[in-house]
Amino acid sequence: MIKDALTTIQERKSVRHFTGKQVSNNDIELLLHAAMAAPAAVHMLPWKFIVITDKVKLKALTEGLPFAQMLKKAGTGIVVCAVPEEAAMNSEVYAILDCTCASENILIAAEALGLGAVWTAVYPNNEHMDFVRKELYIPKHIIPLNVIPVGHPTGDDKAQVKYDANNIHWEKW
Ligand SMILES: Cc1cc2nc3c(=O)[nH]c(=O)nc-3n(C[C@H](O)[C@H](O)[C@H](O)COP(=O)(O)O)c2cc1C
Repeated sequence: MIKDALTTIQERKSVRHFTGKQVSNNDIELLLHAAMAAPAAVHMLPWKFIVITDKVKLKALTEGLPFAQMLKKAGTGIVVCAVPEEAAMNSEVYAILDCTCASENILIAAEALGLGAVWTAVYPNNEHMDFVRKELYIPKHIIPLNVIPVGHPTGDDKAQVKYDANNIHWEKW
């Protein structure tokens, strides 16, 4: 049973605890369809996605990414890569913005499918970007934005209420 969009958005949470059960290829495909349905400046679609399910590769990634240790148990990682030369005005900023939209779609789609996912940062840390490039043979001009571990959640991670009316201004600051 797929939840409606607003419920899914409210219930999305960073999932860092996984059962270890492998995500099906069909679900991975659905996540990638969601990713590429994201908005992008001037419809330029400056993104590439590297799907990693190989346990050895997942473990190797955790060795250079201290905040992505959950990759091992998740069983799948999606690396969202920004391609500035394919972005609006060849802009790195637009490439990052567009890939951020794609990443959020992956996170929301994972929630909708009953999966768990979390953005683990690569960009803008130069050391982490170079490490991921080296591990995955990514060319220098491509920006690995994040690694998104995806797996079956244990249920330990809960959505937080972050709504705060103080953050809203009507008509003027
Ligand atoms: C740009 C960005 C970088 C993040 N980097 C990490 C990370 O490296 N490791 C991690 O566990 N979570 C990371 N997160 C997830 C945040 O910690 C999380 O979204 C935040 O605590 C709010 O919790 P929620 O996602 O459950 O609502 C990142 C999120 C964003 C948007």
